[in-house]
Amino acid sequence: MSEQKTPYDLPDVAGLSLGILGGTGDQGKGLARRFALAGHQVTIGSRRAERAQQAADDLGLSVRGADNAVAAAEPDVVIVAVPWEGHKDLLESLRAELAGKIVIDCVNPLGFDKRGAFALPVEEGSAAEQAAAVLPDSRVVAAFHHVSAKLLLDPEVEEMELDVLVLGDDREATDLVQALAGRIGGMRGVYGGRLRNAHQVEAFTANLISINRRYKAHAGLRITDV
Ligand SMILES: NC(=O)c1ccc[n+]([C@@H]2O[C@H](COP(=O)([O-])OP(=O)(O)OC[C@H]3O[C@@H](n4cnc5c(N)ncnc54)[C@H](OP(=O)(O)O)[C@@H]3O)[C@@H](O)[C@H]2O)c1
Repeated sequence: MSEQKTPYDLPDVAGLSLGILGGTGDQGKGLARRFALAGHQVTIGSRRAERAQQAADDLGLSVRGADNAVAAAEPDVVIVAVPWEGHKDLLESLRAELAGKIVIDCVNPLGFDKRGAFALPVEEGSAAEQAAAVLPDSRVVAAFHHVSAKLLLDPEVEEMELDVLVLGDDREATDLVQALAGRIGGMRGVYGGRLRNAHQVEAFTANLISINRRYKAHAGLRITDV
């Protein structure tokens, strides 16, 4: 096996705390679980603090619950894990709390009908570009779109065998998010381009959902030769 190419060193992110907006859903809760297991202090956010507290208590692992404003303001890095329908309004309401922060967007604007999942058109290009437009004072990075919430939450799954595409316009921020992805066992963060290329990464989730349905799987991506 050839040696893995490492064009540069990623930063040490072990001490960073994470807030997760919409962390009461499967995706946010799953990421909270994995990052807490990796030793990070995690705050689950919700529109209702009690719901967040309940989700945090369900996980144990010293995860904290709070309303979305606290989960946005206090931690070092914030993950957005709300449905596409609530994305813009929520971020607009938290512009001040998120100013100056790295904001990781994993939102997939998808529709579903009898034929399965399909990508929705987005005026700004992608959910991540919408986040960047709404949060001019934050550093928005797109990542974790193809991670299965079911596997994140499954206690039988020790390692998450996939690569996470990390996109953004700020190299320091994408490096940091690549390093964060690497904190989850089996996962690797791979730089995937600038935010203007986030649309097809978000949209590709519809293809993965088709794969999952056909093969009864929780498919992820592996990028070869890097
Ligand atoms: N599920 C997956 O496998 C997966 C994988 C990759 C990416 N994603 C993306 O991650 C995001 C979350 O997925 P999910 O399956 O966890 O979704 P979800 O369970 O439907 O929603 C997550 C949480 O968002 C909050 N929420 C719901 N509607 C909202 C609104 N209109 N405004 C603000 N907050 C709202 C709710 O929390 P409160 O009621 O507590 O506020 C809910 O528990 C989605 O955008 C999805 O595309 C999901």
